[in-house]
Amino acid sequence: MDLFLFIIALLINTTYAVLYRPVVLMHGVTSTAADMNELGGWLTASFPGIYVVSIEIGNGYEDSFLLPMNKQVELFCATVLADEHLHDGFNMLGVSQGSLIVRGAVEQCSLPVYNLITLVGAHQGVFGDPPLKSLPPQFWDLISKYAYEESVQNVISIAGFWRDPFQLEKYINRCHFLPDINNEREVRNETYRNNMLKLNAFVMTYSDIDETITPPQSGWFLGYASHSLQPETWNQSRQFTEDLIGMQTLSEQGKLHMFIGHTRHADAQHAPDKEFFFQNILQFFNNTLS
Ligand SMILES: *[C@@H]1O[C@H](CO)[C@@H](O)[C@H](O)[C@H]1NC(C)=O
Ligand SMILES: *[C@@H]1O[C@H](CO)[C@@H](O)[C@H](O)[C@H]1NC(C)=O
Ligand SMILES: *[C@@H]1O[C@H](CO)[C@@H](O)[C@H](O)[C@H]1NC(C)=O
Repeated sequence: MDLFLFIIALLINTTYAVLYRPVVLMHGVTSTAADMNELGGWLTASFPGIYVVSIEIGNGYEDSFLLPMNKQVELFCATVLADEHLHDGFNMLGVSQGSLIVRGAVEQCSLPVYNLITLVGAHQGVFGDPPLKSLPPQFWDLISKYAYEESVQNVISIAGFWRDPFQLEKYINRCHFLPDINNEREVRNETYRNNMLKLNAFVMTYSDIDETITPPQSGWFLGYASHSLQPETWNQSRQFTEDLIGMQTLSEQGKLHMFIGHTRHADAQHAPDKEFFFQNILQFFNNTLS
């Protein structure tokens, strides 16, 4: 009799156990999957039983900057699509360069993502000395002087989202990655926009003391205005005025969530940002598979 009740109790537990949506995490440049463990721990502590996977592309550290972005997105998608835990959909978070990988993956691979969260992203690219400092010094000149050369585009990740406001035409025509996934070219890819519009929520943050992403507002799709070092306003950004990949539509639908943090760039996924994360970001993982 006791055993019978025990089995019933087990069945009820199993049937009604909360099944949190799995989570995919993507780290930034010159780091590794382990860099996301602290943030992953916040999720597993908050949502019992949640499946969290932190993706490594190739060997992690070196491949994070020595593989072009399109290749990184391709490898990322292959890993995610091969994970059986993720077939029914998941939430996804990318940090810094990882923000571009996860967004590129939604657009290009049509991954079944519910909420897409990007922390201190580079959605409208980077330009200037601070972003180069995350790379070994021998690469600094290569990017600042030759970013749009084919040979550099083919090997260094950051060249794929180097957006020089003094050479925007060159950027649009010769940069392999960002102008494509941002639909900034004359011929747009409607699949990119349609995939973004399938999201339940798209979250973007930047830090007002970011020392790496310049301009920091790139995390909100605001890059430097043409021929200036002033970040664009929403009215000026083609992502909003022309809805190139659906930012304006997502905003009108109440699906665009924007936050400003206040930590160093490298701390966005670590203890100094924990309170910000719990206050603003954690809610986007509090959802279940039906
Ligand atoms: C998740 O949402 C439920 C329902 O709104 C709430 O009771 C719970 O505290 C939330 N969990 C976390 C970790 O925020
Ligand atoms: C649009 O993107 C999808 C997904 O990457 C690709 O399969 C398709 O060929 C692209 N379409 C055009 C017109 O480039
Ligand atoms: C931006 O648009 C708002 C209305 O949407 C307007 O009030 C504001 O003046 C505009 N700012 C600039 C810089 O054009």
